[in-house]
Amino acid sequence: MSVALKQAMRTVTVELGDRSYEIVIGPGVIDEAGPRISRLRPGAAAVIVTDENVGKLHADRLEKSLGSADIRSSRTTIPAGESSKSYPMIERVVDSILAAKIERGDLVIALGGGVVGDLAGFAAAIARRGMDLVQVPTSLLAQVDSSVGGKTGINSPHGKNLVGAFHQPLLVLADTSLLDTLPERQFRAGYAEVAKYGLINDAAFFNWLEKNWGDVFKGGDARIEAIAKSCQAKAAIVGRDERESGERALLNLGHTFGHALEAATGFSDRLLHGEGVALGMVLAFQLSARLGICPKADAERVEAHLAAVGLPIKLSQIPGALPDASGLLELMGQDKKVRRGVLVFILARGIGKAFVEPKVEPEIVRQLLADALNSA
Ligand code: GLY
Repeated sequence: MSVALKQAMRTVTVELGDRSYEIVIGPGVIDEAGPRISRLRPGAAAVIVTDENVGKLHADRLEKSLGSADIRSSRTTIPAGESSKSYPMIERVVDSILAAKIERGDLVIALGGGVVGDLAGFAAAIARRGMDLVQVPTSLLAQVDSSVGGKTGINSPHGKNLVGAFHQPLLVLADTSLLDTLPERQFRAGYAEVAKYGLINDAAFFNWLEKNWGDVFKGGDARIEAIAKSCQAKAAIVGRDERESGERALLNLGHTFGHALEAATGFSDRLLHGEGVALGMVLAFQLSARLGICPKADAERVEAHLAAVGLPIKLSQIPGALPDASGLLELMGQDKKVRRGVLVFILARGIGKAFVEPKVEPEIVRQLLADALNSA
């Protein structure tokens, strides 16, 4: 390993007793996959699950590293895009794992963004009643959120992520240099999840992002710092509340609105997940201000920062028609953040002061959405 790589690398631990694992962050960590995996699971074989875009760019490199550590591997490639988080695709991935004669003590390696990580993770959770999983996230969103914490699953016609399992990885390898090939729109969408950690409980991090987001987008140390900080924030929350019986729900800031908007746009390129989260965070802060619990200036600061990085902050920025306010409210009804028919929202008393509000009056939300749909 070069001295430069050693210096740039950061390690964050998700503390879950005997299921604790490391998130290794830095440029070139994909080349260490083989030796790191063989230290954790000597003699294990692996199936790499990737998509057709990421596979072309990075799978050879991963396979070379596995080969250098004598890890036998095969590759399953799925179509890129959210529509792969489906019943037919989970059947295909699980069957390809079984066809590769991969045994229970072997591994599934998810090489890709959030879709690949969620799908391959779910396959690892159910194939042979549970196999080890290594996440090699290749998008910003996957590096700071979906590869960490063990949520896996697919979508149902009834809504996003409604079928799945908690299945913690054995190791997360977040190679920050792979983000150099990520389309700008995808990077920006992932950045919404980075900003989210500041908004939840770390106002100083949000201040830092306001000043340094340009360097985070350029790459280098600021990007590694932002990813490491985000992983630390998530690891701390997951370590305290793995199964989302309380505090972990804070990680859903912006997601109740965001998932409804994603459903309204057919989980398509009209709105990427992170863009939905950006709009959702704007709406969550507006709702908090409207309820009189958050200074209006903080809600405006959230909008200003997300707009500065080029994320959508108004519903009119979503191309094409949207349902009316009642239609959007109905889509929220299917979200997992509904408890016994009552909408659970993540609201904020200010930047870095998010909290779970278990009872939000639907009419206030409907009015907010109606105003947001009318605002140009
Ligand atoms: N993405 C939210 C969570 O992992 O809990």
